[in-house]
Amino acid sequence: MAQPQIKLYYKNVIADVIGDEHGITPAQLKELAKKTSPLISKLNKERKAGKTPYRNLPYNTKTLRQVKKLVREVKKGCDNLVVLGIGGSALGNIALQTALNPYMYNLDDKHRRGPRLFVFDNIDPPQFASFLDWVGDKLHKTIFNVISKSGQTSETAAQFLIIRKLLLNRLGPEGLRSQIIATTDRKKGTLREIADDLKLRCLEVPDGVGGRFSVLSAVGLFSAAMCGIKIDIDDNDSLLAGARDMDEKVSRTNFYKNPAAIIAAINWHLYNRGKKISVMMPYSYALKDLADWYRQLWAESLGKARDLADNEVHIGPTPVKALGATDQHSQIQLYREGPNDKLFTFLEVRDFGKPLKIGRAPDCAPELGFLAGKDLGTLLNNEKRATEYALLQDKRPCLTILFDRINAYTVGQFIYLYEVMTSFAGALFNINPYDQDAVELGKEATFALMGKAGYKYKEFASKIRSRTKVDRDFLV
Ligand code: PA5
Repeated sequence: MAQPQIKLYYKNVIADVIGDEHGITPAQLKELAKKTSPLISKLNKERKAGKTPYRNLPYNTKTLRQVKKLVREVKKGCDNLVVLGIGGSALGNIALQTALNPYMYNLDDKHRRGPRLFVFDNIDPPQFASFLDWVGDKLHKTIFNVISKSGQTSETAAQFLIIRKLLLNRLGPEGLRSQIIATTDRKKGTLREIADDLKLRCLEVPDGVGGRFSVLSAVGLFSAAMCGIKIDIDDNDSLLAGARDMDEKVSRTNFYKNPAAIIAAINWHLYNRGKKISVMMPYSYALKDLADWYRQLWAESLGKARDLADNEVHIGPTPVKALGATDQHSQIQLYREGPNDKLFTFLEVRDFGKPLKIGRAPDCAPELGFLAGKDLGTLLNNEKRATEYALLQDKRPCLTILFDRINAYTVGQFIYLYEVMTSFAGALFNINPYDQDAVELGKEATFALMGKAGYKYKEFASKIRSRTKVDRDFLV
C-alpha cells in the first residue's frame, strides 16, 4: 500500500490569487528559483562534506541499535518516563508524543503502548512539586531521562539535582543508577562527567548537531520508542523512514520539485516585502506541538544580529503559533484586519481516521440541523478552508502543508522538511542558522545571579543587578 505523504500547496501566495501588491508574480517566482537553485547544490555539497550532520540522522543505525537496546532493558518495569530537558532537548519529545499518541495516553492504562510520559521543560516550582508529590511512591517504576548536551543548562541541572537527591534518599545509590538515563555529549560536558562518575546508562547527543536539530537522534527517539512510536529505519511507516523519504525530495536540485527550497524562498521573499511574521496554524490538535517545535527551530536559527560577512543585519522572521479552529476565535480578527505583515502556513490533515459523527439537532433548534450527521473532521477541514478563504479575501498570503494522515512516517517527513527548509532559509538570509549566541548570554547571566564561583561571575552579577534594579520612581 502506498505510504501517506505530506505535500506543499503554494498557490495562495501567488499574485493571481492575492494580487501583485502582496502576492508573488511569475517573474518574481522565476527570480526566486534562480537565486535558490545554486543554494540547493551548495547545501547538498556541505552535507556531503559532513558540515550538516543532522542531515544523516535518519541513517544512523548505530544510534537506533543503542536506543532499542535500552528500550528493551527498561521498558518492562517502567510505568512512568520523565524527560528532564529544555529547548531542543525537550520540544521534539513533546511534539512527537502529542502528534503520535492519543490525547488521553497518560490516563488510559488499557491502551497505552508504554509508560506514561512527562516532559519537564520548565522549572516552575508548584508544577514540579506537584509532580514530585505524585511520583514519590512510584520511583522504582519511574525512569528519568535527563537530556542536556552541555549539562550546564541551569534548568535541567536543577531538576536533575532534585531528582538525584530524591532517588538517593529513597532508593539509594543503586536506585539512582537504575532509574536515571543520561542523554548527553559523547565525550565532554558536565553531564558526561556526572554520568561517567555515577556509571549511569547513557545515550548520545550526536557531534555537531544542535539541540533544535536533534529530535531524530537519541534525544527524541528514546522517549518516542518507549511510548510505542515507530522509529525503525526498516519499518516502512516509521519516523525515520518518513525522514529518509523527505531527504530525497529536499535534495532535488530542481527548485520547483524541492518543497524545502520553495517554502524557504517564499518566506525569504515575503519577509523582504514586509511580511516579518510567520504564523503556523495547524488544523489538528495532534500537530499543535510541532508548531511549538518549529517556533524554536525558526527563532533560534534565523534571528541573527550579523550576516556571514559580519554586517549588522538584525534579521529574522518572527514565528507565531496558532491553532485551528481554537484561534479563529482569538486571532483571526487581527490576522484579517490588522497589518498585512504575516505569511500563514496551515497544516491540514486529509484523513483523521475513524469518522466522528455529529448527533442530530433537537426539534427546538432546527438551525443546528446543518451539522447533524456530519463528520467532525469534515467540519474542522471546512473551517480551515473558510479561514483560508477569509484571509485570501484580505490578500493575506497562505501556504498549506497537507498531511494525507498523521502517522510516524508523515511526521518524520515534516520534521525533516522543516529542518532542511531552515538550512535553506539560513542560506537565503546569508546567516549562520546553527549558532545561538544570544541564548548563551542569558544562560551566563543566570549563572552569575545564582552565585556561580569565579571572579568573572561576581563582577558580572553586580553589573546585572545594577542594570535590572527596580527603580521605585517607575513602580506604581
Ligand atoms: O537548540 C539549542 O541548541 C538549545 O535550545 C538547547 O537545546 C537548549 O538550550 C538546551 O541545551 P542543553 O542541551 O545543553 O541543555
